[in-house]
Amino acid sequence: MSRVKSHYICQECGFKSSRYLGKCTECNSWNSLVEEIDFELKESNPLRTINEPKDIEASLLSDITLNETETRYTTGLKQTDEVFGGGIVSGSVILLAGDPGIGKSTMLTQIAHNLSYKNQVLYLSAEESKQQVCLRSKRLKLDSKNIFVDSQQNVLALEKLLNQHDVQFLIVDSIQSMYHPLINSAPGSVSQVRECASFLVTTAKTKGIATIIVGHVTKDGSIAGPRVLEHMVDVVLYFEGDKSRQLRILRSKKNRFGSTNEISILAMSENGLKEVDNPSSLFIGDRLAGKTSLRVPSGCAILSIAEGNKSFLVEVQSLSGISALTSPRRVANGFDVNRLQLILAVLEKRIGLPLARQDVYINVVGGFEFSDPGGDLGVSIAIATSHFDRSLDPFVVFIGEIGLTGEIRPVSLIEKRLKEAQSMGFKKAVVPKGNLPTQGKFNGLEIVGIEYLTEALHIAMPNLESNRTLQKQSSSDHTSSQFNIIDNSNVGNR
Ligand code: TYD
Ligand code: MG
Repeated sequence: MSRVKSHYICQECGFKSSRYLGKCTECNSWNSLVEEIDFELKESNPLRTINEPKDIEASLLSDITLNETETRYTTGLKQTDEVFGGGIVSGSVILLAGDPGIGKSTMLTQIAHNLSYKNQVLYLSAEESKQQVCLRSKRLKLDSKNIFVDSQQNVLALEKLLNQHDVQFLIVDSIQSMYHPLINSAPGSVSQVRECASFLVTTAKTKGIATIIVGHVTKDGSIAGPRVLEHMVDVVLYFEGDKSRQLRILRSKKNRFGSTNEISILAMSENGLKEVDNPSSLFIGDRLAGKTSLRVPSGCAILSIAEGNKSFLVEVQSLSGISALTSPRRVANGFDVNRLQLILAVLEKRIGLPLARQDVYINVVGGFEFSDPGGDLGVSIAIATSHFDRSLDPFVVFIGEIGLTGEIRPVSLIEKRLKEAQSMGFKKAVVPKGNLPTQGKFNGLEIVGIEYLTEALHIAMPNLESNRTLQKQSSSDHTSSQFNIIDNSNVGNR
């Protein structure tokens, strides 16, 4: 009997080895190599048939006629349609990736329901039973006649289902639970995920069925069956958020039919996901409506965030105090801790704030996470006001990226940011000078252009000099300590 050939594949990065290794030499993960049986390429293997190619002819690019009336289906969620690039394109394959429990099945149940008004949908719930899908649908108060449900895990059985039902949409929840009977490895392994996805892509393209594939994200942030899916599909969407909070963001990482700049902001309620039309009011609405104290406590600042093509305002809070530890703690909730370290270094070196021995905590209110560098200025103002125990004017918003010399660098989407600040009733916006050549009014919003961080600190804490000395060194000396705040009352011990 001939020996069955096999090899070992790392389930984290896809690295292939002919022998077992305890640690992957590619991604350094432990115990991630799994044995998989090699398939021989022969005609009897239905996965890879080797037939003589016939009638092959390339087309001239100029001769190709485009289907001008490309069919797009609306998901029933306005912002989500924009993320798709104007609705779901027929026959396209979409990967919806996210942490387990983030709300992927909830979102797809809602989308399936909205699509089923005019089309037939097959919801293949490989993870949950038909009853569970029905329960979720009842919980969401959705009642639809045109959704077929099945809990098959075998992709070949799925093909039979698609032959029986004439559907325009297929939802596969999730790819990690599907298996191809000709592959020996367990569902969720790299080979299974790759073959099942390849099968689904071929089926979607040949039958013209728009297919949404759910993919769970592993701990390190990549889609399980690492990145093998991303290049195979037309659209890659990431569903992000903190499970313990309401807020979710749907972001596109790849879109063959539209821009990847759009995002959709959703809130999880007991009746499913709802799009949030005005995220600023979700994050700072209570403060502006006077539901919380109008006097802003020290260490709180409002800053403007641009995500995709949208801009909104968030509140960031900071707390700093002398550390009891040998290496002080820097904790950033909703903000990149490395970025925080950079801002602290600039505050220390360029402004002269004695933060090296202090613990610094940053929290973005509302469970929001951002990486937009345009939020740097607001974060540094929050840290400085916490340090000096000063409160800010509640109607000032800070916009700007901080450079290592303490300069304020221009940001993207400045008009959108200012418009949002103005519509939320703010009176003043402190922005990078590079964004605005002249100072002026923006429909009632006073705009102050600044070049250096110290100018923002003067605006944020105008009375600081009364009990502390704010000493400005030669403005040409930007490379060394540019400005020094000499703190007479030893604020480091606060
Ligand atoms: P689910 O969609 O099953 O997550 P995923 O498919 O990404 O694993 O649901 C995730 C959570 O959402 C679940 O813990 C319960 C909660 N949930 C609500 O808060 N409201 C709802 O209406 C529904 C259906 C779920
Ligand atoms: Mg699910």
